[in-house]
Amino acid sequence: MKAASLSFLSAVLLAVAGMVWGLVMAITGDHSTMPAHAHLILLGWVSLFLFGIFYPLHPSIDRSKTALIQVWIWIAGTLCVTLGVALIHSGHAIGDPFAAAGSMTVLADMLLFGWLVIRREQRTATAL
Ligand code: HEM
Repeated sequence: MKAASLSFLSAVLLAVAGMVWGLVMAITGDHSTMPAHAHLILLGWVSLFLFGIFYPLHPSIDRSKTALIQVWIWIAGTLCVTLGVALIHSGHAIGDPFAAAGSMTVLADMLLFGWLVIRREQRTATAL
């Protein structure tokens, strides 16, 4: 599977999960886990959708194993942050290490994405 396909597929799945979460908050009137909903939607739907747009613009990166790994790490980090933030905001301090690990994961993964972007820029400059 290409990185873009995984990005779009996971973006839609996480968007649906985030929207259902939003509806549950709206119906129950309990908005305490709102930050987890926001993180799930923004890291899950928005960011993954953006990765999915970037990768096909650069087909050689899209086909690479590194890009696929970058997307998988992002998915794992997003789920970890969301779980941690939800636990914290529903009064369970055990969520703290999950939020911390997930945050570090997505930060490191953004650096990996940045490296892919910079490497591409360098290769384009060399080819010119
Ligand atoms: C079925 C769709 C959705 C429902 C029912 C829903 C519902 C909610 C609810 C009930 C809140 C809490 C509001 C509050 O307590 O002030 C909220 C917050 C939020 N939602 Fe959604 N949402 C949906 C989709 C989305 C989407 C698509 C996005 C982003 C692209 C999004 C981003 C956010 C953000 C950033 C917040 C936090 C706002 C703040 O800081 O006050 N939501 N949503």
